[in-house]
Parts: sequence; C-alpha cells; structure tokens
Amino acid sequence: MTSPSPVEVPQPVLDLARSARRVCVLTGAGMSAESGIPTFRDVQVGLWERFDPMELATPTAWEDDPEQVWAWYAWRATLVRRSQPNAGHLAVGEWQRRQGVRLDVVTQNVDDLHERGGAHVLAHLHGDLFALRCSRCGASSGAAYPELEEPVAALEPPPCDRCGEPVRPGVVWFGEALPQEAFLAGVEAAQEADLVLVVGTSGLVHPAATVPHLAGARGVPVVEVNPRETEVTEAADHVWRTTAATALPALVALLDT
Ligand code: APR
Repeated sequence: MTSPSPVEVPQPVLDLARSARRVCVLTGAGMSAESGIPTFRDVQVGLWERFDPMELATPTAWEDDPEQVWAWYAWRATLVRRSQPNAGHLAVGEWQRRQGVRLDVVTQNVDDLHERGGAHVLAHLHGDLFALRCSRCGASSGAAYPELEEPVAALEPPPCDRCGEPVRPGVVWFGEALPQEAFLAGVEAAQEADLVLVVGTSGLVHPAATVPHLAGARGVPVVEVNPRETEVTEAADHVWRTTAATALPALVALLDT
C-alpha cells in the first residue's frame, strides 16, 4: 500500500507560518467542502437543485414563503449535523492551541464545524445557522430545526416564545447588514496579524471579501488556499492551489520542524 505522497508546503508559506505570532484564518464555504457540505456556488443537488441559494437566503424569500425558507435551512442544518469537521478544521484547532500563537478564526460560514474541530471562532461574519431568533422581535429562541430524513419543500417555522411570530435562522441574508461587532473584530484581527490565510472563499461577497485587501493594505502577508483563482487572488502575496484539508494539516505538521 503506497503511503499518500507528502504534501509540498510552499517554503515562503511555511516560513511565514513558523514565525507568525498572530495569525488570522479567514474561511469560506470551501473550508467545509471536504466535510461534504456543498459550497454556495456549487450546483445544488436533489430537491433544492432548481433553487438558487442566492434566491432563498434573502428577506424577500422569507416574507414570501417562510415555510420554504425554513425547510431549506432545516435541510442544511441536517447536512451540517451529519457532517464531521475535516482535517482542515482539526488543523486550525491544533494551531490555535499552540503556545505563543494567537490564532483568530474569522469565517463566512454559518456551520459549526470550526467549533466542532476544536477551534474558537472570533467572528461568524454571516451569522450562525443554529442561532435561531424571532423574525419579528429578535428574541433568541430555544427552538431547534427538526431532524429530517430527506429534504422537504415546506415546514412550519416554530413560534417565538415571546411574541408568537415565526422563528428564523440566525444567518445574514443577502441585503442584510453584517453583525457590526463581528465584522469590526474580523477586520481588526486581519489588520493586526503577522499572517492572514484566506481559505476556501470566492471573495465574491462584500464586505467580508474586503478583509484580505484591508490586511494587505497594512502590509500583512496574505496567503490564499484555494484550488481555483478567485477575487481574493490579486490581494494574495502567495497562492497555494490546493484544498483546505490538504494544506492546513500539512502546514501545521511542519510548524515545529
Ligand atoms: N478547499 C478550499 N477551497 C475550496 C474547496 C476546498 N476543498 N472546495 C471549493 N473551494 C473554494 C472554491 O474554489 C470557491 O472559491 O471555495 C470557494 C467557495 O466559494 P463560495 O461558494 O462563493 O463560498 P463563499 O466564498 O464562502 O461565499 C461567501 O456568500 O453565498 C454567500 O453567505 C454566503 O458565506 C457565503 C458567502
């Protein structure tokens, strides 16, 4: 049985990672892709194939048909629960626990795989799938998504305990403002870092996509980890065309050598 060929870690990236005392890891949907969670711009499969996520993740979609939107998020929550953090998530958690390093995770992802991979997340820029709140009074809700065997086209969202209005996912929909505190914390973490790793994001959605550029403008070295070119590539000092679950474990394994 041949052992997997050792991953070639670009020397400039390894040098930066070894010397960095403050690291900011900015992640997008590609970080969770190897856990089996479809990225936003991958084709949706199955029942949701004909729907564009950009159409469902909007306040208008919720106003027009809350049952459909709730059913879509309940299915996404089911997929997240069925998924496991991948080797990339685990490597980020391991790196964060290293002595003498402050590592801030700033993610656009609404899943909890960084946390389940052992990392503390400084900022969920686009909210948290499992942080349910009332769509009217904003009260946080103790309700939970139903566990689905398979996707369903419509589900009644639970009522708010306080005002009785429908509970919604605690995610940022297109057209909604980002949580200001999280965004400012994410920007500050990137601008104060010795190294910013941008992993698995197309860099298409603002203002999250500005974070690597803001760091670069401060002279912070930016490394992109992504199999494909993106809108972030131009802001990167180094580009590592590979996947999250390949790059991060290989990099973290070499930090001490
Ligand atoms: N490892 C690293 N990167 C990957 C992997 C992988 N295994 N698989 C895919 N990618 C990359 C793709 O090349 C793409 O550049 O991940 C990126 C995913 O891009 P998007 O699907 O656009 O996801 P993201 O950038 O996180 O979207 C930003 O837009 O849809 C909204 O709110 C949603 O948070 C999301 C935001």
